[in-house]
Amino acid sequence: SNGELGDWIRAAKATLGDRVVVLGHFYQREEVLQHADFIGDSFQLAVATQSRPDAEAIVFCGVHFMAETADLLSRPEQAVILPNLAAGCSMADMADIDSVTECWEQLEELYGTEPDADGRVPVIPVTYMNSSAALKGFCGEHGGIVCTSSNAETVLKWAFERGQRVLFFPDQHLGRNTAKAMGVPLERMPMWNPRKALGGNTEAELENSQVILWHGFCSVHRRFTVEQIETARVEHPGVRVIVHPECPMAVVDAADEYGSTDYIAKAIAAAPAGSTFAIGTEINLVQRLAAQYPQHTIFCLDPVVCPCSTMYRIHSGYLAWVLEALVGGDGVPAEVLNRITVADDVAGHARVALERMLAAKP
Ligand code: 13P
Ligand code: SF4
Repeated sequence: SNGELGDWIRAAKATLGDRVVVLGHFYQREEVLQHADFIGDSFQLAVATQSRPDAEAIVFCGVHFMAETADLLSRPEQAVILPNLAAGCSMADMADIDSVTECWEQLEELYGTEPDADGRVPVIPVTYMNSSAALKGFCGEHGGIVCTSSNAETVLKWAFERGQRVLFFPDQHLGRNTAKAMGVPLERMPMWNPRKALGGNTEAELENSQVILWHGFCSVHRRFTVEQIETARVEHPGVRVIVHPECPMAVVDAADEYGSTDYIAKAIAAAPAGSTFAIGTEINLVQRLAAQYPQHTIFCLDPVVCPCSTMYRIHSGYLAWVLEALVGGDGVPAEVLNRITVADDVAGHARVALERMLAAKP
């Protein structure tokens, strides 16, 4: 049963002590998060990775790209473990290194490689954290950077200081919502479809562009609609609508606020008792916040439960399984199951892109 599994995990963690640290993303199931030493959004978890350099193992309860990032930012001796290897991210899979390289070559042919009078290169590549390590490596190698949903504006500002335009992947919505908030007009944000020549754009459209958006999206967040927001406002006068920036632009525009998972959690924590919130993000987080703050009314905008199906693939049975292997005997890990390692040929460049993000100042 879940209760017994929970007891078993607590005992294994007590045996392992400081040798292991468990990190958990906000979208994880409650049965998993109750064992996490740190809970956070994807930026906070990247930082938390570096907070326990003494730990032999980092058990990452999140998705594959987060575990790769943890491997890049942790010491080489530390083993990063993803309890279920099937926990990927469909958005991250929407941009692959071959298609991005092909896009880059077409852009280079169009714009050349010479900087303008202000020293700005033609294009800076920016990848959302939700991408493979290979794409982070691509960005590191080509003068680019990584962003998360909590620092996308800071990162785009960094990029515009160094480049005439940005190639943003994989999430079109985060790219569009952020650039729009910074005053970039929609007609200067063409979308790049890798199946078409010039991404399906004319040369003139690309010449005029400020942000070229990859065609990726999150299948969880694209379910939210303006109609859901309208219904929430009718049924709950005074409701505060907060959505994640992976939602489509019309939804972000219709909401009162948008922000990362941590932004959403903090907004609710800071609200006066008796507030009502309609939230546009993954259901596990919304349900946990609703349970944590019974003084508020908190509900998900989407009436049909929408979990992130890949985050959901990690449950406490997998956590118990990887911890059991670590407990071993004689104080040494008997076995490290499900270790995530980034290949050396991309790791160096990927770290450069991540470190640029960590150093970027608002
Ligand atoms: P944040 O935790 O950065 O808000 O990202 C949400 C998400 O979709 C992670 O995959
Ligand atoms: Fe990927 Fe969307 Fe799940 Fe986040 S919520 S891990 S972007 S599929």
